Amino acid sequence: MPTIVFEGARSALPISLVQGSYIIAGLLFILALAGLSKHETSKRGNILGMIGMAVALGFIILGTVLGVSDTMQLEVLGQQTLVTGFIKQPAFSWALVVIVCAMLIGAVIGVIRALRVEMTGMPELIALFHSFVGIAAVFVGWVSYFAFAASGHFDPLHSGELFVGIFIGGVTFTGSIIAFLKLSARINSAPLKLPGRNILNLGALAVFIVLTVVFVMAPEGSTGLVLISVATVLSLLLGLHLVASIGGGDMPVVISMLNSYSGWAAAAVGFTLDNDLLIITGALVGSSGAYLSYIMCKAMNRNFISVIAGGFGSDGGVVGEEKDYGEHREIKAPEAADLLKNASSVIITPGYGMAVAQAQSAVADLTQKLRSKGVTVRFGIHPVAGRLPGHMNVLLAEAKVPYDIVLEMDEINEDFPDTDVVLVIGANDTVNPAALDDPASPIAGMPVLEVWKANQVIVFKRSMATGYAGVQNPLFFKENSAMLFGDAKERVGDIVKEL
Ligand code: TAP
Repeated sequence: MPTIVFEGARSALPISLVQGSYIIAGLLFILALAGLSKHETSKRGNILGMIGMAVALGFIILGTVLGVSDTMQLEVLGQQTLVTGFIKQPAFSWALVVIVCAMLIGAVIGVIRALRVEMTGMPELIALFHSFVGIAAVFVGWVSYFAFAASGHFDPLHSGELFVGIFIGGVTFTGSIIAFLKLSARINSAPLKLPGRNILNLGALAVFIVLTVVFVMAPEGSTGLVLISVATVLSLLLGLHLVASIGGGDMPVVISMLNSYSGWAAAAVGFTLDNDLLIITGALVGSSGAYLSYIMCKAMNRNFISVIAGGFGSDGGVVGEEKDYGEHREIKAPEAADLLKNASSVIITPGYGMAVAQAQSAVADLTQKLRSKGVTVRFGIHPVAGRLPGHMNVLLAEAKVPYDIVLEMDEINEDFPDTDVVLVIGANDTVNPAALDDPASPIAGMPVLEVWKANQVIVFKRSMATGYAGVQNPLFFKENSAMLFGDAKERVGDIVKEL
């Protein structure tokens, strides 16, 4: 068969190589997700994900710089002929220089932020990252729209894809910005309660569906431009309202939901740009984020659908309500040490305060000391303890606490009645009995660690202040509870010295 090869195509990357690299990267991402599902394999999962991303980026950059060549069989002058030519980028352009510079600047900022961020600041950082994915999807959608408009050729599938991509991207962008502002306490975390908020959300969704149908039918000219502008503004407003109407205590689900949205936004961009890897990666992020949201909703006894619609968890009691639970009892470190010396079983339930105090190493020392004295020590981890999924597990792993004594809430909740001493270290909402006993409480229905069923509970915190959800905790006033006030790291250190 005669062959025609375009000059530049000889130095370009063959498309089969690029697609092969996408498959390898996609597989590495799947293995990374599998690894992240267990303590023992999470480090390996992270490394596999990083290798996958390096492979993907490496080939995308090479393909962009060298160009990608494809081979087609065409009929030329009545003969089957093999034609090898360029697709996509030319070998060099100033646009390429700008892209590489932007990537370098982004990478430097990313590395600096990642090195500086505290574990407690991770949710905010993640929310900010999601907002970048969202705004990128909006930009890609707009650029593709102008490219289609310039070529005068809109096909219905691509028109629909770019419209949906812009919408999901817009919702993700403003939703993530609001989540960032709430998590970093730059704005009040209380839910915005506009009248008929669910109708507003669902109405916006219905309007978007109608706009999509009209846009797919008539994408050209000023009609298309108006429709796409209205959809962009609508999506930005919906994202803002959706997350603003969710209360602070429910933010963990919001973060994983936005994670999911950012994945679907990336997948939509993948369709628009015809990039298989973006579609695969976006779908992985989108579905794993949705599944994580589902698991968290289950853990907090929330309805998944009402989370998607926004405004969930904001009904119920008054945040920060004043109720008289009676007097609390105080304890000092030496007495706490005595209780621990005489105990045979101890459960430690850490929470956000342990992260704030950076008390994980002191807690690990205490664990080691007690175990060396023959005390059985285990940890009970609530699914939303701290400020991000797995927050406590990461801190305890960092302090080298053995994995086999770190148990999930469901695995340990039945053991509290047979436990001598529970140490509540900087946890509050996750050990609040009002979640089970008080239907009017804002956290009603949320499963909690039932620490009050133990013989003796010692609560480490600095004051009688409320936790993240802003509700008082009747645990602190129970007869078998005692408050050990002060910074958790210092107080745990004091006990270690006593032991
Ligand atoms: P919280 O309810 O937030 O309570 C933490 C407690 O730690 C506070 O009561 C605080 O009391 C104490 N504390 C703070 N700094 C301390 C220090 N240096 N030393 C000792 N204690 C200190 O914690 P939690 O039980 O882990 O519950 C988590 C909450 O965050 C839930 O409401 C959850 O829904 C929400 N949330 C979770 C996530 C995820 S995914 N985990 C994400 C966002 C929000 P003092 O001020 O009196 O010391």
